[in-house]
Amino acid sequence: MNEMITFPKDFLWGAATSAYQIEGAWDEDGKGESIWDRFSHTPGKIMDGSTGDVACDHYHRWEQDLDLMQTLGLQAYRFSISWPRILPDGRGQVNQKGLDFYDRLVDGLLQRHITPFVTLYHWDLPQRLQDEGGWPQRSAAEAFVHYADVVSARLGDRVKHWITHNEPWVAAFLGYGMGVHAPGIQDFQLAVNAAHHLLLSHGWATEVIRSNSPHAQVGITLNLNDVVPASPSALDYAAAREIDGFTNRWFLDPIFGRGYPPDVVAWFQRVHGADLQCVQDGDMDIMAAPIDFLGHNYYTRTVARDAAPENAPRSIDTTDSEFTEMGWEVAPRSLFRMLIRLHYHYQIPHIYITENGAAFPDSISEDGDIRDTRRLAYLQAHLQAAHDAIQCGVPLRGYFVWSLMDNFEWSFGYTKRFGIVYVDFDTQERRLKQSGRWYRQVIAENGFRFRNGS
Ligand code: FCB
Repeated sequence: MNEMITFPKDFLWGAATSAYQIEGAWDEDGKGESIWDRFSHTPGKIMDGSTGDVACDHYHRWEQDLDLMQTLGLQAYRFSISWPRILPDGRGQVNQKGLDFYDRLVDGLLQRHITPFVTLYHWDLPQRLQDEGGWPQRSAAEAFVHYADVVSARLGDRVKHWITHNEPWVAAFLGYGMGVHAPGIQDFQLAVNAAHHLLLSHGWATEVIRSNSPHAQVGITLNLNDVVPASPSALDYAAAREIDGFTNRWFLDPIFGRGYPPDVVAWFQRVHGADLQCVQDGDMDIMAAPIDFLGHNYYTRTVARDAAPENAPRSIDTTDSEFTEMGWEVAPRSLFRMLIRLHYHYQIPHIYITENGAAFPDSISEDGDIRDTRRLAYLQAHLQAAHDAIQCGVPLRGYFVWSLMDNFEWSFGYTKRFGIVYVDFDTQERRLKQSGRWYRQVIAENGFRFRNGS
C-alpha cells in the first residue's frame, strides 16, 4: 500500500507539553511550591530520584523553543500554566512575573502564527491548597475558578482555546487513590471527592473563561481508553464494563449531562465503600456546562479480564502486539473505535486529539542522528486511524503529538522519552529526531504517504 492520506483543509497540527514537565525554574520569580515540587523532593517517589527543578529549562529557553516549533511548522501548541507561578498561595496575591512569562509566550506564539491551546490545570496544584486538603475539598474548586479568572482576564484577548483540566482521572485516582502521583495519598473516598471537585471546577471555570475571553472555545481533556474484554466470557464482559465505567464514563457522562453512571456508583460503594456525599444540589448541572470541544488523550487500550478461577480462557492473545517502553500496547484501531464512540454516543461538537505519542528507548547514532523508527511508525498508524475516523464523520479538528520534546515523565522521571525532539538533559541541547522531521513533512503536506510497515 502506498496511498496518500490527506487531512481536511483546516485540520490543526500541533504538539503538546505541560508546565511541570518542561519549565524548571521551580522557585524563581516568585513562584510558589506545587504538589509536584513537594512530591519529587520526597525521596523514593520518582524512579530515578530526579525532580522537575530544571527539567527542559524551558522557562529560560522559551524563545529558542518557539523557534524550534516554527522550524517544525507547528500550527498549534498546547501548553499548561503553572498555577503556583500565578498565585503562589493558590489564591489571593497575584504574581505578576508569572503572568508576564505566559504573556510573552503567547505573544511569541502568535508572532510565529502558532495558535496557543492553554491548559489551566496539568496537575501542579499549589502546595498551600494541598495543605488545606487539596482537591478532596470544595474550597480547591473555588480557588481554581479564581485562578481561571486571573489567567483568562490577562490572556483571554489573545488565547481563544482553553482546556480547563488535563486528565482529571489521573489527577484524582493516581494522586489521591493510588498515591503514585502527587500528592501521594491512598484513599479511594478522597479520590472520588477529588474527581467531583475537579469536574465541578471545570463547569464553573467554563463560564468565567467565556466572560473574559469573547468567542473562546472552551473544553476539557480526558484520558480515554478503549476497554475490550479478554475473552467472550460473560465475566470478562462485566470486567470490561466496570473498567470502562471507572475510567471513561465516570467523566464523560457527567460532562455531557448524563450524571454519574449508576453502575459505577454501585461499584464504588461495593468495592471501595465510597459514597457521593460530597455532591451538592445543582452540582451535576454545573458540571454539564456546554463545552465547545473535547480533548482526547490517547495512548493505548486496556484488555479486561475477570480474575475468577472458573473464568476461561485466561486472556486474549497479545503476543503479536507491540508494546512501548511504558509497557503500553500499541493499539491504533482502538483510537478509531474510541473516536467513533465519542461521536455517535455523545454528539460532541468538536474533538481534538490533545495527546498521542510513545516512549521508546532512543539511541544517538554515530552520525548524531536519532532514528526513532518505532515512534514514527506509532504516530503514522495513529494518524491513519484518526483519518479513518474523520472519513466516518467524526468532527476531529486537530492533533497534538505528545510531546514536543523529551521531558520529566512524572514518577518515571527522565527514564522515558516521548519527544519528537531529543533533549540532552546535561547540556539542554535540543535535536530533532527522525519522527520530528517526518512530522514536519506531514504538517507541510497536510498528510502523508502511507507505507505499510515503513
Ligand atoms: C499523559 C499526561 C502527560 C504525559 C503522557 C505520557 O497521561 O497527560 O503529561 O505524561 O501521559
